[in-house]
Amino acid sequence: MRFNLETIMSEQLINTLVRKEARQLGAYNAGLSDEAVRARYNVDTIARLASNENPLGASPQVITALQESARLSAIYPDPSSQQLRDALAQTNGVDANRVIIGNGSEDLLKLLCLAFVNPGDRVVTLLPSFGLHLIYPQMMGANVTGVPVNAQMAFDVAAWQQALQTPAKMVMFSNPSNPVGCMLDGDGFQRLIDSSPQDCLLVIDEAYYEYCAQLDGYPDSLAVLQHQSRPWVVLRTFSKAYGLAGLRVGYGLASDPALVDILNRVRTPFNINRSAQAAAIAALHDSDHTARSVAHVSAQRTWLADQLTQLRLQVVPSSANFLFFRTAGDSAALAQRLLPFGVIVKPWLEPGYTHWIRVSVGSTVDNQRFISALRQVL
Ligand SMILES: Cc1ncc(COP(=O)(O)O)c(C=O)c1O
Repeated sequence: MRFNLETIMSEQLINTLVRKEARQLGAYNAGLSDEAVRARYNVDTIARLASNENPLGASPQVITALQESARLSAIYPDPSSQQLRDALAQTNGVDANRVIIGNGSEDLLKLLCLAFVNPGDRVVTLLPSFGLHLIYPQMMGANVTGVPVNAQMAFDVAAWQQALQTPAKMVMFSNPSNPVGCMLDGDGFQRLIDSSPQDCLLVIDEAYYEYCAQLDGYPDSLAVLQHQSRPWVVLRTFSKAYGLAGLRVGYGLASDPALVDILNRVRTPFNINRSAQAAAIAALHDSDHTARSVAHVSAQRTWLADQLTQLRLQVVPSSANFLFFRTAGDSAALAQRLLPFGVIVKPWLEPGYTHWIRVSVGSTVDNQRFISALRQVL
């Protein structure tokens, strides 16, 4: 009894001490782990199709780099990630002092909000959204305006232009969109940038860049943005096409070294570990592996979309390594029924989109397993 009372008092005290923004924050929907599914449903193998990982894994050159870096595990990593920044500067044709590295690009989303967003600031983003595009601004006390996709599940440029007429501190969206997979084309991108308030920070999240860099119509955001007078940053990641999700490396290409300087001040000094830095450099150099990963996704995405359509499900055309499809009923219940088959997908939980599921394009075997399980549960 005494213990319970103490627990209640401690919880009350936590609720009194915590910032109200943190108390009200929604949890990121990270889904179930393989281990949890294995233990709960007594299945041996799992088709992990909820996190948009690379089914080909990391390049063999990455594995070699990791073995070498492991020998230096006792030594702190380079806090400036200089070699990786140099490599990215060269690949992207920008100066290294405009490159910032994050512990995953999610780290950079957080740093941007920490550094720039004050309570009451307005942040404009896309709906449905990558969860952290809402959570991090809300953590800072921002008022977030979400601009929904249109009835065709595409970017609604007119609605964006309307939303951008009101002042905003930050404009942030993913292109292609996670979770929908729709791509804003060059014309739409230019119109959206032109409509943005002159004094806002533009955050263009290109986590799925490698899957659409060669597609007709995909905007060359760096080329468009370099003519802008407002500050901007383009975010990319090693988690997807490079297959390094477990190592946590993302990067930002910024309008200005001053922007990188600010982000450097709010990050932890050693935010990128030694192995992650070495692996990212090796991954960047193995362009064949990246090309194979992208080609695999492209072929398997067509097959998956076809199968889903045959099951009479509405599937949105995707430019990324996942598909967003509409289910007749509650998508969480359907996703739950796939778990005994060892298939993990991501039911969308955002209000207005709870009939939708996002499924990653996995290995050929995992994709077949997903379709076979789906046929049985539908
Ligand atoms: C749009 C978008 N941004 C950022 C991230 C974060 O990626 P990471 O932190 O692994 O680099 C993801 C991951 O799924 C994403 O989909």
